[in-house]
Amino acid sequence: MPGFELIGVEERAAVNELFDDGGILYRYGFANERNERYRVLEFERAFAGYMGVEHALAVTSGTAALKVGLRALGVGPGDEVITQAFTFVATVEAIADVGAKPVVVNIDDTLNMDPVQLESAITEGTRAIIPVHMLGVAAEMDAVMEVANRYGVPVLEDTCEGLGALWNGKKLGTHGAASAFSFDFGKVITTGEGGMLTTNDEEIDKLAREYHDHGHENDPSVPRGRDGRRIFGFNYRMNEIQAAIGLAQLEKLDFIVETNRRHYRVLEAGLRDLPGLRFRRIPEACTPLCDALVFELPSEEAAGAFAQRMAEQGIGVKNLPDAMTWHFAGDWDHIFRHFGMSDAELRRVTRSSRERLSRCIAVPIMVKYTPEEVEEIVHTLREIATEVSEPISQR
Ligand SMILES: Cc1ncc(COP(=O)(O)O)c(C=O)c1O
Repeated sequence: MPGFELIGVEERAAVNELFDDGGILYRYGFANERNERYRVLEFERAFAGYMGVEHALAVTSGTAALKVGLRALGVGPGDEVITQAFTFVATVEAIADVGAKPVVVNIDDTLNMDPVQLESAITEGTRAIIPVHMLGVAAEMDAVMEVANRYGVPVLEDTCEGLGALWNGKKLGTHGAASAFSFDFGKVITTGEGGMLTTNDEEIDKLAREYHDHGHENDPSVPRGRDGRRIFGFNYRMNEIQAAIGLAQLEKLDFIVETNRRHYRVLEAGLRDLPGLRFRRIPEACTPLCDALVFELPSEEAAGAFAQRMAEQGIGVKNLPDAMTWHFAGDWDHIFRHFGMSDAELRRVTRSSRERLSRCIAVPIMVKYTPEEVEEIVHTLREIATEVSEPISQR
């Protein structure tokens, strides 16, 4: 699953080397003291290269990447931004934090944004759409992009959980106007905390760069202290230690993704024939990240019993069902009430997503599993399925 499993000698060496080069931890300046090395810049270039995009801006978190991206798209108070009911709370927080109204649409059987519901949520006030590639799988992105393009609304992809996955053979996170990534401790590569905003649009990148750095225009012809500004910003700058670690982790990304996919294939093949267990639909155009295997049971009770038995057997779950309350917008009246939506209304509009998500189990896939461990998990999950199948069939 995440890069934290593989934090090791390479990351340690990268940090030691940073200190050997003068130990300058700030992304700008100090050219003489730092041996001309700028790790944040190097990480941005390497990440842009990996993604095949023009620009990558390193920031302090995935949440910051979303917020910086929204600001760069010109989203602000009075605007509406559409996202999906299944996401981490950060997506909705970022929308609310720029002063825009979050609008959530329900998910379909991909567990991501339903493109039909997306279209019906668009209004005159819609300024951005954020599809979220939850647990490494894309929404029906062609349909999402078709709706967005038809209404002329920019798409900011939330690829915080999707780095390494593909859509139509092209990296997920390269299909909208911009994309946000997270390197927090649970992600496929990690810098402890950290994030990246990518785009092919020069003006989006420029605005994002300025906003994430107090509005600094970073004009190379003047000293930083005399730099100009056209917008007000904030501080979401990544530091050099994070970037040094990020560079080492990025080297491991292909290996992590390949290993995930190998484990995933074994798990899926081993569970496919189980009655009462339906896999999450993965759109045909999507090559998933495969850091989790998600299936749906016939009822919430069955899913609860299944997860309980998994915990007893020492197998964890990822977000579903244990942390659903942090990943389901229908529970976030503490945010939506600021935008005039009552708790009852929020529950009503997100009901179908709640019903679907509460029947789901997400099994995390760890990079370091041995083939024997993967077989053992298949065996245990099959046993659990047999045990809970009786209560399921008695329903
Ligand atoms: C879908 C999604 N969006 C945004 C974020 C926020 O990223 P971060 O934790 O780096 O702020 C996360 C992190 O869990 C996430 O899963």
